[in-house]
Formats: sequence, C-alpha cells, structure tokens
Amino acid sequence: MTDNLELSHQQQRAFQPQKLSAPRDFMTPEVLMNRQLPLVLEIGAGKGKHALSFALQHPHKHLIAIERTRNKFDAFAKLVGQQKSSNLSAIHADAIAWIVHAVAPNSIERIFILYPNPEQHNPNQQWLNMPFFEFLLSRLQVDGEVVLATNIEAYMDNAEQQANEVWCLPNTRHKVASDSQRTHFEVKYLARGETCWQLNMRKPDGYQTRFDNWQASNKA
Ligand SMILES: C[S@@+](CC[C@H](N)C(=O)[O-])C[C@H]1O[C@@H](n2cnc3c(N)ncnc32)[C@H](O)[C@@H]1O
Repeated sequence: MTDNLELSHQQQRAFQPQKLSAPRDFMTPEVLMNRQLPLVLEIGAGKGKHALSFALQHPHKHLIAIERTRNKFDAFAKLVGQQKSSNLSAIHADAIAWIVHAVAPNSIERIFILYPNPEQHNPNQQWLNMPFFEFLLSRLQVDGEVVLATNIEAYMDNAEQQANEVWCLPNTRHKVASDSQRTHFEVKYLARGETCWQLNMRKPDGYQTRFDNWQASNKA
C-alpha cells in the first residue's frame, strides 16, 4: 500500500457508524454468528431475482440480500419462502444501518450493488460518493470484490473515477451482455436497448480503512 492510497480516502469526511441506531427489531442472523460458508452481500436486492438465482447457482456461498422498500421486500420474501434455499437470507432493512450493526470487519467475499437508485439530483447519495463506502470496504475481505452495475453512463463514469482516485481500488469496467437477465431492472433496461455497465472493484492486500477494528459491540 502506498502513502497515496492511505491518504486519498482518509482525507474524506469520515463516516460515523456510532451515530446509527440499529434497525427496528434488529437481530444478528445466525449465519453471522456461526459462519460456515463464505459470505456474500447484496445491497438493494429489489424483488430478489438475482439473489434467488445466485443462491441456487452457488450452494457453497451464503448470500445476505438486503432490501429497504416494503412491497419489494414482501415479494422477495414470498419467493424465498417458496425456494427454501438455506444459503440465502433476505433482510428487510436499510442496508447502511444493518451492515453497521451486523457485519464484522474483513468478513465478506463479494458485495453486489446492482442497478442502484441513480440519485442524479443528489449525487452525495451515490454509493461511491458516500463516506459509508469506506466502512463498506472495511467489511470486505482482502481480494474481495464490489460489483456495481448501472444503466446510467454518468453514474458509471463517476463510480470509476471515485474507485481510482478516492478509493484506490483496482477495477475493471465492461458492458453487460445484451442477453443478461440477472435482475428485473437489468431485464427492463436491456429490453429497451439501453447499454448497461458493470464495474468490478477489488480490495488489494494491505488496504486500510479507519474502520478495520470497528464493531458495533465496541460502542460505549
Ligand atoms: C433501482 S432498484 C434495483 C433493484 C434490483 N437490484 C434490480 O436491479 O432489479 C434499487 C433498489 O435499491 C433499494 N435500496 C436503495 N437504497 C437502499 C438501502 N440503503 N438499503 C436497502 N435497499 C436500498 C431500493 O429500495 C430499490 O429497491
């Protein structure tokens, strides 16, 4: 790790996890207390199309898929009940508060953020612009990956720039195949003939954040 790498994101305003209350009715899921499979997170899972097929295709990984909007989560939870994949946990919560309270540092193999809300009028709410992104990186294992997909070119351009200049994450950008069908939004955008992009960002060995030793139970 170079000095530049340490300095660039540590010059950003720091996220303040101690200020976030636990989500209502929060309980740490069993899978996080007694981890047996590599853990994967999905933020903003919608109705769960990607989560459900990922769980079937990767029986040796446990996916925790978080969705905040009640009606989408209810549709997702119904399908989870029908599919009965023991390696899939569907969580109804705001992902930021939930991750702060539930997830240990250096514990997640991969994080999917697929077609996040564009936040074109509020760029501070784009995931790679948020101070929370440093906290999210602290939860990722070395060599772990954040996978971001979007149909908004400006969102992707900004994310790529932030990954390079602020977060100093090795990354690759590519166009999503036109026959890909991972999520409901992906299906909709590709059917309209739009281009979708994906950015894969890797956490390199020696990467440091200000939250590497921070756990919710440490709170006073
Ligand atoms: C544009 S939709 C995409 C849904 C799905 N990933 C897809 O591609 O079909 C974005 C989703 O992210 C969810 N979301 C946004 N911010 C969130 C947060 N902080 N925590 C959990 N879910 C969030 C929204 O409720 C919404 O369902």
